[in-house]
Amino acid sequence: MSELEYKIPSHVAIILDGNGRWATSRGLKRSMGHKAGFENLKSLSDYIFKKGVKTLSVFAFSTENFKRDKEEVDYLMDLLVKKIKQLINKKNNVKIVFSGRRTGLRDDVLSAINEIEELTKDNTEHIFNVCFNYGGRADIVDAARKIAADYKNNLIDLDTLDEDKFNSYLYNNIPNIDLLIRTSGECRISNFILFQSAYAEMYFPKILFPDFKEKDFDEAIEVYNKRDRRFGGIKK
Ligand code: IPE
Ligand code: IPE
Ligand code: MG
Repeated sequence: MSELEYKIPSHVAIILDGNGRWATSRGLKRSMGHKAGFENLKSLSDYIFKKGVKTLSVFAFSTENFKRDKEEVDYLMDLLVKKIKQLINKKNNVKIVFSGRRTGLRDDVLSAINEIEELTKDNTEHIFNVCFNYGGRADIVDAARKIAADYKNNLIDLDTLDEDKFNSYLYNNIPNIDLLIRTSGECRISNFILFQSAYAEMYFPKILFPDFKEKDFDEAIEVYNKRDRRFGGIKK
């Protein structure tokens, strides 16, 4: 199939998995896998936006990841504080947003998140949605709480509450996911974006995230192009 015939998914979501195994298989500490994963994310995200993907969501830290050793959690928090600005590429006009609970995060982590959102808020070409301290169920529960609060304050008419309106109450009003990739071979969602993945095409390459490169993304697009998306209908 030539490049021109490709359908490029508008919203791609990636569960960045396998950093720990990448490191331990090399006799390294798990944190070195997170470092390698972050370096890969910088170049890969740039490539994905250049391919024409409008929205990219990534799962970088789940609420459940707080169960890990303090050393690993601290490393991931420090990585965000020290390096997150490296995701800004002046040329590609990307608005960076964070999805997840803001409670329970260190002050310096919150400052880094607020700063990068502020720095990129006027960018219009692409959205880079970083899911951090994120849980798909918490996203839905927190939206329900916001709706209940708005109802109490007469700010919402429940007759107008449809799926699009509900979506606007989630952490970020991002569109439906077209292609969901989870690296490392695990075939599960692990509480990643639930509401907007209702009709996502799923792809589970065995490659560990630090090794998931441009050619592997191209392969994902190729697989996506072979899928028959019916959304419950029947193909004419
Ligand atoms: C994904 O890699 C990154 C985070 C969860 C932060 P893992 O750390 O889960 O790597 P594996 O699955 O243990 O190999
Ligand atoms: C999901 O991966 C979370 C992220 C990639 C950030 P995990 O490695 O935490 O998920 P499980 O434990 O394998 O389900
Ligand atoms: Mg994992």
